[in-house]
Amino acid sequence: MSLAPTLSGAVSAPSLGSSHKAVQSCTLVIFGASGDLTSRKLIPALHQLFLEGQMPARFRVFGFARREKSDAGWRAELREALARFSRTQPVDDARWASFAENLYYHCGDLADGAAYQSLAARINAPDDAALQHNLVFYMATSPSHFGAVADRLHAVGLLQRKEDGDALWQRVVVEKPFGHDEASAHALNNQLTQHIRERQVFRIDHYLGKETVQNIMMFRFSNSIFERLWNRESVEHVQITVSEEIGVGGRGGYYEEAGALRDMVQNHLLQVLSLIAMEPPVSLHAESIRSEKVKLLQSITPLTAESVRRQAVRGQYFAGSHGGEPRKGYRQEEKVSSDSHVETFVALKLFIDNWRWSGVPFYLRTGKNLPVRASEVRVQFRPTPNVLFAAQATPESALQSNALTLRLQPDEGISLHFNGKVPGNSPKLRPVRMHFDYDSEFGAYTPEAYERLLLEAMAGDATLFIRRDEVEAAWRIVDSIRAGWGGAALSNREFYAAGTWGPVAADDLLAPLGHEWHNPQPLP
Ligand SMILES: NC(=O)c1ccc[n+]([C@@H]2O[C@H](COP(=O)([O-])OP(=O)(O)OC[C@H]3O[C@@H](n4cnc5c(N)ncnc54)[C@H](OP(=O)(O)O)[C@@H]3O)[C@@H](O)[C@H]2O)c1
Repeated sequence: MSLAPTLSGAVSAPSLGSSHKAVQSCTLVIFGASGDLTSRKLIPALHQLFLEGQMPARFRVFGFARREKSDAGWRAELREALARFSRTQPVDDARWASFAENLYYHCGDLADGAAYQSLAARINAPDDAALQHNLVFYMATSPSHFGAVADRLHAVGLLQRKEDGDALWQRVVVEKPFGHDEASAHALNNQLTQHIRERQVFRIDHYLGKETVQNIMMFRFSNSIFERLWNRESVEHVQITVSEEIGVGGRGGYYEEAGALRDMVQNHLLQVLSLIAMEPPVSLHAESIRSEKVKLLQSITPLTAESVRRQAVRGQYFAGSHGGEPRKGYRQEEKVSSDSHVETFVALKLFIDNWRWSGVPFYLRTGKNLPVRASEVRVQFRPTPNVLFAAQATPESALQSNALTLRLQPDEGISLHFNGKVPGNSPKLRPVRMHFDYDSEFGAYTPEAYERLLLEAMAGDATLFIRRDEVEAAWRIVDSIRAGWGGAALSNREFYAAGTWGPVAADDLLAPLGHEWHNPQPLP
């Protein structure tokens, strides 16, 4: 995809879209090698990159975890997982074998210094500077380990501060959640950057690896007709919905600690918001884009205890049904307290205090056990002065103001909603939709987010990763909302039946300005 020279500067190397990066030979170490993320996402992604010829010429992957296994045993387990999780089916055994000969298992406890020494010895075994010193450490373990693992890697000489001109490199990729509030994120940032520079830290939000999330920026800044309307003069409000169809399932224990605000809003929703609302970056380089995202987060009007009451709604599902199937209430889920007040739904009304967006409400909502799984952004434009057609309007054919919907997943596409004349003699109007569908236009191409993210981490491009100040700014917003809620009990208006679009309180949030939620539609 090419961009207008005035926006991008160096158009020839659009970092966001580049999938053909020169990646130097390197060694990856995955901490948490026997975990769910490794078998479901990381190894299938690396395998896919290998099939597509995007892995470096020489590479090795070490998996680190406590369970005893041999290299062969780990490879056999991963091969089995691939049969379920690879997006290329059936898996070609010969190609798998050439990929798998680069995989090694390293048994050890994250708290055991000797395990890092033996890891260093294995990493340094081949007489190959790139494999010895170009290192990616992927933290796919519980977040409580991240800081200590970095300390221990540093202690055995595997992780060091690198300067820009250094030919060899070391990077740390950190899974979410990055901290549980601003103070813990700040402390973890300090711990990590004791040994390495900020630009060696790659904080994951897998949403940013999704093709369609990247498309937001491309769409905004390469289409002049929309960018001209992208401001308070034309936009009445914006809605961002990330709805999940499933309940918390087996993740009740985790959810009791996290809740929807920390699990979804702090990262995915605020990321989408910043891409939708940020100013054009001066170039497509990582620091320019990330600086604009941080500026946007910093311009969100701070929430006080009083404004949280008016602008932040929690919800929790009770037993209901979905598609004719009964669904449990949250309090009946495994490892959930029977009087829990943890939120499984959040809706927010945020304002952005800058020149472009002053006074425009941004409504964000996310929840579990909603009717469909979908992520959508709806930009609702201001209505026309309704002087010409007011007389013809009936409740069935009321004029609707224009809207643009960016469907991020599934069924990625863009729809423009406008009014069209109904054919015939009467002057009736009806809302109609012009739809663009990525699959029909470009063919079904849905690379997994982790393929892109792993490739970018190996290539050293941090555009799709969260910067230190960004993660802390996002936590500051979330912390202020949590402080406003103050652990108070949920009211009746905050409960919703599983399988519905959330609590009544979420509708109340939009009502004062006469707005309404637009619910994503299920696939036809
Ligand atoms: N799963 C997902 O889809 C997903 C999505 C987004 C983010 N994440 C994040 O990714 C990380 C990993 O998630 P996961 O679902 O893969 O977790 P998991 O299935 O519980 O796996 C945890 C891994 O850590 C290892 N481990 C735990 N304690 C250890 C110790 N003391 N020493 C050595 N290894 C240890 C475990 O292996 P042993 O028991 O063999 O030691 C296991 O391999 C978490 O930060 C999570 O929040 C996961």
